[in-house]
Amino acid sequence: MSKFFVITTILIMLKILQASENTTQLPMQGKLIGIQKAPYVAAIYELEFYKCTGSYISNLWVLTSGYCIVGKLVRDLTVVMGTNEVNRIGDKKDVVMLVLHPNYTAVPLQNDVGLIGVASPFSTGSAIRPITISDKTVSITEFCSLIGWGSAINFTHQLFGNESILLRQVRMKPIKQETCRGMLPNVTARYGKEFISDSVICARGEDGDACLGDVGAPLVCDQVQVGITSMVFEECGKRKPSVYTDVAKYRQWISGKTMPIMISPKLGSYSLHSSSWFVIFRMCVLVILSVML
Ligand SMILES: *[C@@H]1O[C@H](CO)[C@@H](O)[C@H](O)[C@H]1NC(C)=O
Ligand SMILES: *[C@@H]1O[C@H](CO)[C@@H](O)[C@H](O)[C@H]1NC(C)=O
Ligand SMILES: *[C@@H]1O[C@H](CO)[C@@H](O)[C@H](O)[C@H]1NC(C)=O
Ligand SMILES: *[C@@H]1O[C@H](CO)[C@@H](O)[C@H](O)[C@H]1NC(C)=O
Ligand SMILES: *[C@@H]1O[C@H](CO)[C@@H](O)[C@H](O)[C@H]1NC(C)=O
Repeated sequence: MSKFFVITTILIMLKILQASENTTQLPMQGKLIGIQKAPYVAAIYELEFYKCTGSYISNLWVLTSGYCIVGKLVRDLTVVMGTNEVNRIGDKKDVVMLVLHPNYTAVPLQNDVGLIGVASPFSTGSAIRPITISDKTVSITEFCSLIGWGSAINFTHQLFGNESILLRQVRMKPIKQETCRGMLPNVTARYGKEFISDSVICARGEDGDACLGDVGAPLVCDQVQVGITSMVFEECGKRKPSVYTDVAKYRQWISGKTMPIMISPKLGSYSLHSSSWFVIFRMCVLVILSVML
């Protein structure tokens, strides 16, 4: 059974389950936001079509959901930054590396975190800047923002390459896991309590809602990223909670994969903080560069 089939199936099942739950319509879709206010937001394209949102976290790395990269080929993906408009020219980079969390599962969706390594760093400025990821789980007393293109893109709507979709910010309120399960009774009944595990954050829209096109988009509180949009239900705008990967729970894994190699001043040796094969790959690149220079 292909992963695509599994994901499609889970989405269809969620749609059926969701459709039977009582909801109230939410008319607003947050507010438009200029890229200078969210310079860390990255648009991820697959074969020239908008696919997901991500966040720029360090010079070569974009953080997104695992769902956005699972089964993808690096040559099919590109990342664009510096523009608040989907399908408009920005700073476009080829993708050279995809790192999916080793414990990612599609059913139920868990450890939904992935990293995209780009070919060269983005040139930072007022419209492009990395965001800090949180080292602690957000508290339910805070107010956060979801920044993405999703509220303007819905399931039934096929996005064409010539269409203009503007970045939006939706105010989100984190809610307790228990409350969240209670608001998604049929989903919880179907997948069990672990569907909303301790490694996720649930949040509910205040002036708009998360929608499918937001998958991978950052949940931000106080200019710090606390979540990655993981599970969004098809009936966007009906004030159902959406589910976010809790980045604090994955911070160690993320920094291990994205940490630049430190060159020790003493011996000129590399101090390795991560044993991944990518570190070895980067060492090879450095060796090649040092031979060339
Ligand atoms: C769950 O779904 C079933 C149908 O699949 C429906 O009869 C039931 O009312 C739903 N429960 C809730 C709490 O919405
Ligand atoms: C949905 O909830 C509202 C308010 O809680 C209630 O008035 C309404 O009857 C409910 N609708 C259904 C179909 O259960
Ligand atoms: C993946 O799961 C295994 C078993 O629970 C655990 O030992 C391991 O640390 C996990 N890997 C990561 C990167 O969290
Ligand atoms: C989805 O988008 C299409 C095209 O913009 C629109 O006609 C439709 O009403 C939208 N559906 C919802 C549920 O927002
Ligand atoms: C956008 O592209 C689609 C598909 O190629 C086409 O059907 C549509 O007419 C185009 N719209 C505009 C405004 O050019």
